Amino acid sequence: MRFRGKLSVPQITQAMVNLFVLAVALLLAVFAPITGALPKVSRVGKYLYTEDGNRFFIKGIAYQTQGLIIPGPDNPLNQPSTYVDNLADPAACARDLPFFQKLGINAIRAYSANSSAGIYVILDLTLPLNGSIDTTQPAWSTNTLDQYLRTIDAFEKYDNVLAYNIGNEVISPTATQSAPFIVAAARDIRAYLNSISSSALVGYAAIDGPSSFVDDEADFLACSATASVDLFGLNNYEWCGNAANTTFDSMNRRFANYGVAAYFSEFGSENCSPNPRVWTEIPVMYSEPMTDVWSGGLAFSYFSVVSRGHDFGMATLSADNKSVTTNADFDNLAAKFNGVTFVNTPAKGTAPTPTLPNCPAPSPPGWNVSNTIPPTPDDAACGCLANQLSCLFQPPTPDYMKLVGNLIGIACGLVIQAGGTCNDISSSGVSGTYGPVGMCDPTIKLSYVMSQFYELNNRVDAACSFSGNATANPKANPSILASAAASSCMPSPRVFTPSPPPVLVPGAGGGGNGSTDNSHNGSSGPPNGGMSSTVSRGVLVGLTGAVGFVVGAMVWTLA
Ligand SMILES: *[C@@H]1O[C@H](CO)[C@@H](O)[C@H](O)[C@H]1NC(C)=O
Ligand SMILES: *[C@@H]1O[C@H](CO)[C@@H](O)[C@H](O)[C@H]1NC(C)=O
Ligand SMILES: *[C@@H]1O[C@H](CO)[C@@H](O)[C@H](O)[C@H]1NC(C)=O
Ligand SMILES: *[C@@H]1O[C@H](CO)[C@@H](O)[C@H](O)[C@H]1NC(C)=O
Ligand SMILES: *[C@@H]1O[C@H](CO)[C@@H](O)[C@H](O)[C@H]1NC(C)=O
Ligand SMILES: *[C@@H]1O[C@H](CO)[C@@H](O)[C@H](O)[C@H]1NC(C)=O
Ligand SMILES: *[C@@H]1O[C@H](CO)[C@@H](O)[C@H](O)[C@H]1NC(C)=O
Ligand SMILES: *[C@@H]1O[C@H](CO)[C@@H](O)[C@H](O)[C@H]1NC(C)=O
Repeated sequence: MRFRGKLSVPQITQAMVNLFVLAVALLLAVFAPITGALPKVSRVGKYLYTEDGNRFFIKGIAYQTQGLIIPGPDNPLNQPSTYVDNLADPAACARDLPFFQKLGINAIRAYSANSSAGIYVILDLTLPLNGSIDTTQPAWSTNTLDQYLRTIDAFEKYDNVLAYNIGNEVISPTATQSAPFIVAAARDIRAYLNSISSSALVGYAAIDGPSSFVDDEADFLACSATASVDLFGLNNYEWCGNAANTTFDSMNRRFANYGVAAYFSEFGSENCSPNPRVWTEIPVMYSEPMTDVWSGGLAFSYFSVVSRGHDFGMATLSADNKSVTTNADFDNLAAKFNGVTFVNTPAKGTAPTPTLPNCPAPSPPGWNVSNTIPPTPDDAACGCLANQLSCLFQPPTPDYMKLVGNLIGIACGLVIQAGGTCNDISSSGVSGTYGPVGMCDPTIKLSYVMSQFYELNNRVDAACSFSGNATANPKANPSILASAAASSCMPSPRVFTPSPPPVLVPGAGGGGNGSTDNSHNGSSGPPNGGMSSTVSRGVLVGLTGAVGFVVGAMVWTLA
C-alpha cells in the first residue's frame, strides 16, 4: 500500500461505521420529537447543493468506537468482529455534541445525531462479518438487502441523513470481483430511496490504492445512469504532515471530469512530521482547485482507533464515559475547520452536466470485473423456493453463520462428487454469471445444495442429515427437484424496486422466522473467509457409505 502513516485501512474502517438496527430503534425512541429541519442536500452532476442553492461541502469527522479485532486464520484482514454500539447510550451523543460544535463540523460518519445541532450524518448500512457484501465471496442477497432496508426505514424519519453508504473498502486492489455486487446494491438502494421519496444520497467509501485500480473502481461506480453511487468516498491518506500544496494535484487531475460527487471519506495521516497532526491539507481541500473536483472530507477519527501502533483518536473518554478530554490533534483540527469558508461556485443553475465515465473494460489481473450486474434480490422468489426444497438446513445454534459457510463447502463438494454442480447458487463478478439462487439468503442456498445432494441419492434418509444439521421437508412434493423449483420460482433475473422488508421480531434469532416471509427463515451469511473450500472428513461421518467421502480442496466461485 502506498499510504504513509496510516497503513492498515481495512482493519479499522470496517469498524468505524457500523450500527445496529435494534439500537437505532432505541435511539429513535429517545430522540423522538426532533425538530429544526436541516436543509436537504442534493447532487447536481458532480456537486452538492443545499436547497437554498449554495454549494455544500462535507466537513466532518469519523465517529465510531473501534470494535474488537479477533485475529485468526479466518480473519486475514483483521476485521473487527464486534462493534461498540454508541447508539445504545444516547447520553454519549449529548456528551459529544459540544465537541462537534467546537470542531466546526457539519457532518459525522457513523450514525444518528441530534439534527437540531446542525450535523448531517453519513450512515454506513453495513455490519461486521456477514452484514456487508464480502470482498472475496461476494453476493447481493436478500439478507443483506433487507438489513440495509431495515436500517434505512429506521432512519428515514430524520432529516439529517446526508447519505447511506452501501459499503466500505469492500472492493480491494487484489480482489475486485465484488464490484458488480456493489453496483447492484447502489442500484437497488437508489430505487428504494426514490420509492419512499427520500433525498438521501447513496454513497460508497473506497480504499485508496494504485491509480489504475482507483480510477477503474471510481469509473465503474459512476458509469451508469441508473446504477451509480451519488457520492464516491475515497479514504485518502496521501497528505502527511506539512506536505506540499501540490500533493493532491495528480488526484485532482484524475477526478477532474468525474460524473458524480466525490469526497474524502477518511483523511488524516498519523505518524507524520510534525506530530501532532497539523491538518494543513484542510485549507487546500476547501479552496480551488480542489473544490472544483471534491466536496470536502471527514477527518479520522473522533474516538481512539489504533492501527499498527498509531492512534488516530482525538477524544478520550473518562473511566465512567461521562466526560471527554481532547488532544492537540483535536485543537489543530478545530482551528483549521473553523477557518474554512465554503466557496460557492459554480452556482447551482450553472453546474455543468458531466458526462458519465465509460464503464472500464475488464483488464485482469488488475480490474478483473465483468460489466454484467447481478439482479435485484427477490424475497418472494427465494421464499417460494425454500418452501419447495426437499432437504432443509436446521440451524443447531443461534450463531450459525459460520456453520452455514462450512456446510455449503461440504454439501457442494458432495454434490459435485455425485455428478452435480453448484452453479445455481454461485455468482461470479468476474464472468458476470449469476446463478438463479445466488441472490437468496445463505441458509436457503445451503438448503438448496443439501436438497440437490439428497435428490442425487434417491432421497435416502442419510443423505439429508449432514450430521444432524438438516432435515427432510415433509411438505415438499417428492416429484419436484430443487432445480425445477428454482426454475418455477425464479424464471428470469430481474431488476425491480425492492419492497420494504418484513419487520424483524427482536430476539427471534436462531433461525427463528422473524417475519411472515419464509425467505427470512434464519437469514445468515458467510463470515469473511468462512466459506470453507476444504472438506473435512470428520463432519461427514454420519453419512452412509453410498455417499462416499470427498477429501481435499475444491475451488469454485461461491456467493
Ligand atoms: C438537541 O440539540 C439541541 C441544541 O444543541 C438541544 O437543545 C436539545 O435538547 C437536543 N435534544 C436532545 C434530544 O438531545
Ligand atoms: C497552500 O494552500 C493554502 C490554501 O489555498 C494557502 O493558504 C497557502 O498559502 C498555500 N501554501 C503555499 C506554500 O503555497
Ligand atoms: C464506556 O464505553 C465503552 C464503549 O464505548 C464500553 O465498552 C465501556 O464498558 C464503557 N464503560 C463504562 C464504565 O460505562
Ligand atoms: C480473475 O479472477 C478469477 C476469479 O477469482 C481468477 O480465477 C482469474 O485467475 C483472474 N484472472 C487473472 C488474469 O488474474
Ligand atoms: C453440523 O455441522 C457441523 C460442522 O460441519 C458439525 O460440527 C456438527 O456436529 C453438525 N451437527 C450439529 C447438530 O451441529
Ligand atoms: C414466528 O412468527 C409468528 C408470527 O409472527 C410468531 O407468532 C412466532 O412466535 C414466531 N416464531 C419464532 C420462532 O420466532
Ligand atoms: C420458518 O420457520 C418457522 C418457525 O421456525 C417454521 O415453522 C417454518 O417451517 C420455516 N419455514 C421454512 C421454509 O423453513
Ligand atoms: C448474520 O448471521 C447471524 C447468525 O449467525 C444472523 O442472525 C444474521 O441475521 C445474519 N445477518 C445477515 C445480514 O445475514
